[in-house]
Amino acid sequence: MKETVTKVASLLHGGDYNPDQWLRYPEILEKDAELMKKAGCNAMSIGIFAWAALEPEEGRYEFGWLDEVIDRLRRNGVYTVLATPSGARPGWMAEKYPEVLRVNADGRRIPFSTRHNHCLTSPVYREKVRQINTALAERYARNPAVILWHVSNEYSGACYCPLCRAAFREWLKKKYGTLDELNHAWWTAFWSKTYSSWDLIDPPFDNGETSVHGLVLDWMRFVTDQTADFMKAEIAPLKKANPDVPVTTNMMGFYEGLNYFKFKDLCDVISWDNYPSWHEGDDRETAISTAMTHDLMRSIKPGKPFLMMESCTSAVNWKPYAKLKRPGMHELASLQAVARGSDSVQYFQWRKGRGGFEKFHGAVVGHLGTGDTRVFREVEALGERMKGLDRLVGSPFLSRAAILCDTENRWALKAMRGLIQEDKGLLAEVRRHYAPLFRMGVNTDIVDEESDLSGYDLVVAPMLYMLRAGIAGKLRSFVEKGGTLVITYWSGIVNETDLTFLGGFPGDGLAELLGISMEEIDTLYPADRNAAEVLPSGETEGLAPRYEIRDYTEISHPAGAEVLAAYESDFIRGLPALTVNRFGKGKVYYAAAVFEDVFYRDFYRKLVSELGLRPLEVDLPEGVYLSARRISDNTDCYIFQNYNTEAASVVLPRPMKSLESGESVETLTLPGYGTAFLL
Ligand code: GAL
Repeated sequence: MKETVTKVASLLHGGDYNPDQWLRYPEILEKDAELMKKAGCNAMSIGIFAWAALEPEEGRYEFGWLDEVIDRLRRNGVYTVLATPSGARPGWMAEKYPEVLRVNADGRRIPFSTRHNHCLTSPVYREKVRQINTALAERYARNPAVILWHVSNEYSGACYCPLCRAAFREWLKKKYGTLDELNHAWWTAFWSKTYSSWDLIDPPFDNGETSVHGLVLDWMRFVTDQTADFMKAEIAPLKKANPDVPVTTNMMGFYEGLNYFKFKDLCDVISWDNYPSWHEGDDRETAISTAMTHDLMRSIKPGKPFLMMESCTSAVNWKPYAKLKRPGMHELASLQAVARGSDSVQYFQWRKGRGGFEKFHGAVVGHLGTGDTRVFREVEALGERMKGLDRLVGSPFLSRAAILCDTENRWALKAMRGLIQEDKGLLAEVRRHYAPLFRMGVNTDIVDEESDLSGYDLVVAPMLYMLRAGIAGKLRSFVEKGGTLVITYWSGIVNETDLTFLGGFPGDGLAELLGISMEEIDTLYPADRNAAEVLPSGETEGLAPRYEIRDYTEISHPAGAEVLAAYESDFIRGLPALTVNRFGKGKVYYAAAVFEDVFYRDFYRKLVSELGLRPLEVDLPEGVYLSARRISDNTDCYIFQNYNTEAASVVLPRPMKSLESGESVETLTLPGYGTAFLL
């Protein structure tokens, strides 16, 4: 069941290391290796932005410095996660081949500057990347120090150059075959947008077409496909040189520019960069959002470990307020990643640079250049602690609950006009359902419409506005076979090109599954309130008699479903706010509105207990969270974390054993910001 990400049998600890910035400082490079050892680091990501140092002139490679760095680190017990450098291209290339530079949505080509701004289509850029990746792979893919390929850096954004526009049109031709099909799928008769030639079709430029939502969606899909295709081309020479070295690319959590689930098969392991705003507001809430993001990233390859590829030891310099992490938060936040299924704690960055945009970004080593700092000591202590956690390596994080948060549905909701314009509220709705499950210690995946749902007992589908092909049937068969589905307002409205279903909502057979028929949705002004009056029934035991409602009230009529709560006021008084429908061997709950938070707590408490979803029957104090990783066939490691600054106690349901010390524990007392690993 265990699947290790790399050949290393320990959790990875290290980060982005940029020796190419320090080639004029050999004593610092020597010192780095010594300090890495002291900090308990065993893996560094090297060469991410090193193209200029690796190929200072076209076709002239300089690998000597990299050879030395990799060897020096290896001698000090540090493995290399080797990057392909496509995240930023060298000056000679921009000068000689301007087509490699990206054109922005304003139609202007970006000059040679910053990073992450290459064209995804340019044959020249692809060829140059192939050459450098081939050279790197031939030289290092069989070097035992190299354990993983870090492909590019945070793929993101889109290019609007003529090459990309032409590729987009080709992509559309392949998808639709004829303009007639495209025009229908995009409903272009509206505002006389009917495309009479493929050449008229352009991406949604800043001053371009954003009212044809099918176009906007297809553009986002094209950008994802083009990026994935670019990554595929990047990987080919790496795998050719040695198929056994795994590949990853570092993702960005809920970043919406790409559908990361399409990268599932390209990556041997998923990795991502984690930058929460600790100490801004309540850390206990930040911990929930951060866990949710870990869960989204892990769920691209459900059950498999992932890697936290970047995080910050202290102040993140690009945030509006570059606040220092308070003592203890570094360990807590780092171990949260491990608790949610990461096999690594990696940082951006190992050492603060002397110049440039990131010189004041948190790092393990600061400008003082020694290990004698608060931050270094915290990293060192964590490194020491991580050495005692080897049994977690490769252990899956298994979930019986899943929440659907489909990226394409996010795009579609964002593009459509209606509801609350500024933010339709999908992610807030997802979090409303996630938070109570998380607070009860229920392992939860965050999946997309293409994910396999068959292994879950509970699936939650908040605002499933767009039904991509197949999802309605999948939900139906999930419920038929005994699954419990919770679905909300504004679901089953459009198909995958954003055409509404005709003949009743929710469409594509979902009305029958839910046992309701939806007529309208009301968007409430911020100060508006309604309420749900809960009707007495076996299904509503444990719920309060009344819950406040805001934001949205969907108007629907029961068509087979049992009404569990009804609107209290306004012209919709008495209509369903919450229903349940029995279908096959399972059940579907439909929440027609946005309820106050306690509703979700009460509702899921009941559901979780009926379905027996808690891995451990334990009452968790406020701010103490529980995660479980399966470390052997029938042993779970329970990870308790305390996000309070004060100590907290947990009465355990049975005597447990510390994974780290082997000691028996009956009542767990966690210090403020403490973490315990129990068996
Ligand atoms: C990441 C990026 C790193 C570094 C870091 C700073 O998004 O991958 O290269 O810039 O942010 O927080």
